[in-house]
Amino acid sequence: MPDTIQTVMVNVSVPYPVHTGGGLLDQAGAVIAKALDSRRCAVVTDSNVGPLYAQRVCRSLEGAGFTPLLYTFPAGEQSKNLNTYGKILEFFAENKITRSDFAIALGGGVTGDMAGFAAATYQRGIDYIQIPTTLLAASDSSVGGKTAVDLEAGKNLAGAFHQPRMVLCDTDTFNTLPEEVFADGVAETLKHGLIADAAFFRFLMDADICRNIGVVVRRNVEIKAAVVGEDERERGRRKLLNFGHTLGHAIEKCSGYAVTHGHAVAIGMVLASRAAERLGFSPDGTLDAVLAACRRFHLPVECSYSAAELYEAATGDKKRSGGAIDVVVLEEIGKAKTIRMDMDGLRHFTECAL
Ligand SMILES: NC(=O)c1ccc[n+]([C@@H]2O[C@H](COP(=O)([O-])OP(=O)(O)OC[C@H]3O[C@@H](n4cnc5c(N)ncnc54)[C@H](O)[C@@H]3O)[C@@H](O)[C@H]2O)c1
Ligand SMILES: [Zn+2]
Repeated sequence: MPDTIQTVMVNVSVPYPVHTGGGLLDQAGAVIAKALDSRRCAVVTDSNVGPLYAQRVCRSLEGAGFTPLLYTFPAGEQSKNLNTYGKILEFFAENKITRSDFAIALGGGVTGDMAGFAAATYQRGIDYIQIPTTLLAASDSSVGGKTAVDLEAGKNLAGAFHQPRMVLCDTDTFNTLPEEVFADGVAETLKHGLIADAAFFRFLMDADICRNIGVVVRRNVEIKAAVVGEDERERGRRKLLNFGHTLGHAIEKCSGYAVTHGHAVAIGMVLASRAAERLGFSPDGTLDAVLAACRRFHLPVECSYSAAELYEAATGDKKRSGGAIDVVVLEEIGKAKTIRMDMDGLRHFTECAL
């Protein structure tokens, strides 16, 4: 059955819709024309997504009277850096994008994070629209307004909060995703169930995700929108979305980004659950539930780095400044909390994780 078009609102300071459904790419121009006045936009995409979908999006935009300008960067996390970010800004400037124009991020989380950061900072901020094409971007990164690039010292270290004006998710685009990239999105989907919705987690363990993709994406977006709506700038509750990410980011960094974000988060959730169970933060059985979920979707569960390597990568220069860190643990399946740790606490947590 085709996935019908539906809308979830993200109720932040300037609320915006997330439209999801099959075939939305061809309607992008018409939908955007109803919301934005400017007719000039920069479409940022990567070298895998561009050849697959950019023409359709640009044609749809032109059909609605827009003048789209296409910028394509080499696909992959290795591109999510200051160099590519600078090139996107220069492209905006060369093409005389003004403050009343807007940008479109067409692609996965790397494209969304980087084009979003360029939009956040170009001329002190221009509008942008997210058109996610991975399950991860649709279910997580395109919603909530966190934008960033990586620095040598670690993941997402330069960035901004900048909410999109709209998210347009064509679930048909997932049909071209390599299995491993689809699995990255499943990891963040499991995370949403584990931290906020036990019934959704059980559904994921029983259902055929591909046949229910619209339902899965929308439930992800609802969970994320609810958390972000309560805490737009991550002062409290939003931190729960970082379950599996403290050690997950460390694994990404240790691997030189050869381990993808979703795969690293899967391992990170396993490690965090093991440590939390050993330290009495999570009830018995939590680790088994997380392991079973990752295995069901062929996500990795083993970490090939030592506790010392992970700790080093997770802390960066925080330990020198004597900082504290909020680590997310599961109180039960479907409910999470943060534990504030100093650097010795994090070292011990990491040792208990392996
Ligand atoms: N901002 C946030 O709140 C947030 C949340 C979660 C993750 N992230 C970030 O998202 C990034 C990971 O996102 P990702 O997994 O989407 O990575 P990605 O953007 O690199 O996409 C993964 C791969 O799939 C390709 N691809 C994308 N769509 C495709 C399609 N429809 N068909 C075929 N190939 C396609 C891409 O070219 C790339 O090679 C990380 O940098 C992570 O830090 C951000
Ligand atoms: Zn993530």
